[in-house]
Amino acid sequence: MPNDLVTVFGGTGFLGRAVVHELVNAGHAVRIAARQPTLPAWAEAGDPLSLVSADIRDEASVADALDGAGSVVNAVSLYVQGRQARFDGIHVAGAGRLARLAMAAGIQRLIHVSGIGSDSRSPSAYVRARARGEAEVIAAFPKAVILRPSVLFGPGGAFLSTLAGLTRLPVIPLFGRGEARLQPVHVADVARAVVRLLGGNPPHGRIYELGGPDIIRYRDILNLVLKHLERSRPLLPVPYPLWHLVALLASVLPNPPLTRDQVILMQQDNCVGKAVGTFAELGIAPRALRESLPKCLPRSAEAPER
Ligand SMILES: NC(=O)c1ccc[n+]([C@@H]2O[C@H](COP(=O)([O-])OP(=O)(O)OC[C@H]3O[C@@H](n4cnc5c(N)ncnc54)[C@H](OP(=O)(O)O)[C@@H]3O)[C@@H](O)[C@H]2O)c1
Repeated sequence: MPNDLVTVFGGTGFLGRAVVHELVNAGHAVRIAARQPTLPAWAEAGDPLSLVSADIRDEASVADALDGAGSVVNAVSLYVQGRQARFDGIHVAGAGRLARLAMAAGIQRLIHVSGIGSDSRSPSAYVRARARGEAEVIAAFPKAVILRPSVLFGPGGAFLSTLAGLTRLPVIPLFGRGEARLQPVHVADVARAVVRLLGGNPPHGRIYELGGPDIIRYRDILNLVLKHLERSRPLLPVPYPLWHLVALLASVLPNPPLTRDQVILMQQDNCVGKAVGTFAELGIAPRALRESLPKCLPRSAEAPER
């Protein structure tokens, strides 16, 4: 009888919450690991959920969180580094530590969440760290599966709420001409992929890139959101050097609203590549952003137009 307990690191985050929900629906027992773990709002007494306080940078707490589990999912994130947390500590050393301790603990399956575009030669420290982290994971746990989603959307997600926030401005500044092509993917579809992968028998070291059914330019996504919210705003192209200057000035703030890494990410396409596993192989038809907007960005939740 396989061990059905799955430890989800980052199980309180946007993706982690969806993964926990999908795993419980599929009949798994789930241990939610985070620095400040909490039960999901939908949890009821008797649900097969447990909490463990763990910091991916701390050897002993990671080992505790893995103890007795059959599978592990790493959905820990860090988008903006500061004095307290560095990309290398979370995405490279932390990811490698988790993989090494999972191997030592006899864990059968490890799913490591990274991101499309991970590249060890990128000018972005974030993107480089994602690539080095993937390499550390595969070296320590050769059977690990790497999941690289495109930008995630879903109810309560930061992507759509940030775009909705921009539509309140009189003019919406674009990254460059807004030509970067994205493949937004519903968070619940990525969670379904995690559950399929834990149940199936994927080949060693397999990389899956998960994108929604549509490849959409950033400016067209903004237009979709504007139309959905019944707003009309001009879109203003802003050259990338100017964005880099804004990010440089913002870097002195304790919580910068924009970073150099984010500007670099918006300078390139974020779409599923070739020679990788995809939703199709997992038998999942991902839902489209356009049709999902009413549920993910309810008009009633938006402040009325002034
Ligand atoms: N969101 C997207 O659009 C997107 C797109 C592509 C890829 N991804 C990837 O998907 C993964 C999940 O992203 P997300 O957006 O769901 O993240 P998120 O909402 O920011 O959640 C992050 C989770 O990580 C936990 N965490 C942070 N630091 C930790 C540490 N030192 N030790 C243990 N846990 C820690 C947080 O809980 P505590 O703070 O309590 O520790 C939280 O549960 C990341 O790898 C991200 O790069 C996301």
